[in-house]
Amino acid sequence: MGDARAIPARDAAFDLVMANHMLYEFASDGLRAVVAELNRIVARKGRLLATTYSDAGRVLLTDLHNETLAVLGFPPSGPQPSSFCLENGADVLSAGFAEVDTHVMEEVGSDTDADAFTALYVKTGGYHWAASHDPIPEADGARIPEVFRSKAEERIDEHGAIVTVTNWTAFVARGPL
Ligand SMILES: C[S@@+](CC[C@H](N)C(=O)[O-])C[C@H]1O[C@@H](n2cnc3c(N)ncnc32)[C@H](O)[C@@H]1O
Repeated sequence: MGDARAIPARDAAFDLVMANHMLYEFASDGLRAVVAELNRIVARKGRLLATTYSDAGRVLLTDLHNETLAVLGFPPSGPQPSSFCLENGADVLSAGFAEVDTHVMEEVGSDTDADAFTALYVKTGGYHWAASHDPIPEADGARIPEVFRSKAEERIDEHGAIVTVTNWTAFVARGPL
């Protein structure tokens, strides 16, 4: 284990480096430091594979997560733009790499089972963050799955199913600067 802002590896050590669904964990300052580290450890003719989501459109899991926190009295401050997504990822990586190719795979899912959707939700970083976040008392945190489930059930009753569109995004970056 190490911190992505100070990777314990020598310069140009790897032909392929993967950063899967983690660059969006950093706000812009930290992200610049991580891209500089990725630039440093990828071999001159090597590649970086970095995957993420699209920030466009509604992500129903996030909507229901926000509605759940609002029911518990902790309304989120508003949509938080992603620091690393389909829309801005190529720009972010171009600070450290000469060429960035973008690949997108759209996946449409339809769920009619509130329990299954809740089981998916409790695996997300958003849930774990909220359940262990200081301002949210433990008793409220413990209610998150049950409130989320009732919100999911409402959507299914209203629309017949929960339809999600995911734009899985992969950037392949070459030519560390
Ligand atoms: C959404 S998870 C993705 C995990 C895995 N790469 C995958 O695709 O399933 C984000 C990961 O980023 C890691 N992470 C967050 N901050 C980090 C840091 N400063 N250095 C290294 N990893 C970090 C977290 O521990 C978590 O495992």
